[in-house]
Amino acid sequence: MNVPNHVAIILDGNGRWAKAKGMPRSYGHVKGCANLETICDDMKALGIKYLTVYAFSTENWKRSREEIDVLMRLFRNYLKKCLKIAEKNRMKVRILGDISAFDADIQQKILDLEEYSSQFHELHFQIALNYGSRDEITRGMRRMAKDCTEGRLQPDNITEETISSYLDTAGLPDPDLMIRTSGELRLSNYLLWQMAYTEFYFTDVAWPDFHREELIKAIEKYNERDRRYGGIKEEA
Ligand code: FPP
Repeated sequence: MNVPNHVAIILDGNGRWAKAKGMPRSYGHVKGCANLETICDDMKALGIKYLTVYAFSTENWKRSREEIDVLMRLFRNYLKKCLKIAEKNRMKVRILGDISAFDADIQQKILDLEEYSSQFHELHFQIALNYGSRDEITRGMRRMAKDCTEGRLQPDNITEETISSYLDTAGLPDPDLMIRTSGELRLSNYLLWQMAYTEFYFTDVAWPDFHREELIKAIEKYNERDRRYGGIKEEA
C-alpha cells in the first residue's frame, strides 16, 4: 500500500456521536480527544510523515459558553499530555491558527509543546486551533503587504512559493489526502490554498469511531485514484 505523505483530517461528529448514545456533547469531545491520541499512533505505525487535524475553527467560538469551556479544558489537558505523546511517537507538534485568542496559559502550553517537540522528526503533527483558511490568508497577506511597503519584498518577485511561505503551514508539504468524518461534504474553510490538488475522502463514520480500519479504508481508496495533476494518463 502506497501511503500518502501528508494526511489532513476534519474531525467532525463528536456531538452527534454522543447524542446518538444519549450522552452530552462533552462526552463526544472527550472520546474524540482520546481518538486523536490513537490515530497519531496509527499514522506513525503506517509510516505517514505529516498529519494535520482541524480541531477548532474560527467559527467554533459561536458555540455555547458551556461547550467552549469544555473544549478549552480539553485543550489544556491535551496540550500537557501531548509532551509525553510527542516523545513516545518522536513527533514534532505545531499549532496552526491565530493562538492570540486563547487564554495566556493555553498560549504558553502551546509554545512549550512546540519548543519541546521541535527535537523530533518522525511524525509532523499539526493541530489547527482557532484556524480558518481565509483568516490565515488574510493574516499572511497583511504581513506580505507590509514587507512590500517596507522594501523587504518586491511585488514582481512574488511567486506561489512566496505566498505559501506567509501561511501558517510555511515549510510543510501540501496534503495528499483529506479525510472528513461524519457525513458533511464541505471544506469548512480548511487549508483552501494548500489543498489545490489534494484527494478528498468523505465518510459517514463519526470522529470518535474513526479507527485504524477506517484509516486504512481511506488510504486504499486514495490508492485507487489516478493522481495526474492535469497531465496525460500513462498507458497501462
Ligand atoms: C467536531 O465535532 C469537533 C470539534 C469542533 C471539537 C474539537 C475536537 C476535539 C475535541 C478533538 C480533540 C482535539 C484536541 C486538540 C484536544 P462537532 O462538535 O462539530 O460534532 P457535531 O458536528 O456532531 O456537532
